[in-house]
Amino acid sequence: MTLAGRSLTRIADLSNDEILAILDTASAYAERPRGRMQELHDRIVAAAFFEPSTRTRLSFETASHRLGASIIGFADGTSTSSVKGESLEDTVKVLSGYGDLLVLRHPEKGAAERAARVSDVPVINAGDGSGEHPTQTFLDLYTMRQNLGELAGRRVAVMGDLRYGRTVHSLVPALQGLGAEVVAVPAPGLSLPDDVGNGRVPEIELEDAAATSDVLYVTRVQKERMTASESADGSGRLVVDGALLARTKSRAIVMHPLPRVDEISVDVDSLPSAKYFEQARNAVPVRMSVLSHILGESA
Ligand code: NCD
Repeated sequence: MTLAGRSLTRIADLSNDEILAILDTASAYAERPRGRMQELHDRIVAAAFFEPSTRTRLSFETASHRLGASIIGFADGTSTSSVKGESLEDTVKVLSGYGDLLVLRHPEKGAAERAARVSDVPVINAGDGSGEHPTQTFLDLYTMRQNLGELAGRRVAVMGDLRYGRTVHSLVPALQGLGAEVVAVPAPGLSLPDDVGNGRVPEIELEDAAATSDVLYVTRVQKERMTASESADGSGRLVVDGALLARTKSRAIVMHPLPRVDEISVDVDSLPSAKYFEQARNAVPVRMSVLSHILGESA
């Protein structure tokens, strides 16, 4: 099936073939020189960001510009009519009359699906609270494939805030679907929700993960989604540093969706295994691919 005209709210809505097609198109874009194409010159992307974002918003903007599309929107919901009491549904109905596609980031889980139900144009989930973040998963998978080749049989350790971190909620099912083995190193009290990973994600110790994995996928504790008692508990913090990687003779690449707080020490940045800034750069060709599949020529 084609992705043309479809919303992208949950990773489970895509087949393996559809995911791989997005990654392949991204590789083709990554090979082209910098500059602007005209593929989407007659399209307008609307970007509604009700929650802070650096990479996701600016890489969607860059991807739109590189494909020749125009982009409208806002980076801060407090400048919109939502502060006057307008519902998400009403805002979405209005924006879907302006743009040809809506990119939505929102603090509530399920917001993208609510939006897709009332929108006249496709909706891309750019992060819905503690829900999902499917386009981050594409650039995570792209970066893994770039460094490791085939993902089947690879071992990926997801670390940190697995409860509230939406990137892992999309990444874990995608990796399992592609035949990778996923293990978890949760921060204390922040295990994966029961509905993620089909009960097939064993929890292991940090040292064990570093010694045995092909990828260490590190995430920050999502303080903004926690109750006061949860956020007060900073005990047992997980940190990946150069000493851990050396001690465990780790051969893993180290990834992180960013922003990093202190869960990867800066001494890792200069190691060849550090891939998080490369991962952030890959956001542009990957999001070009997503826009193109939904709106344009690759569809
Ligand atoms: C992530 C997010 O917003 O979920 N950031 C991103 O999009 N790269 C991760 C995070 O905020 O921790």
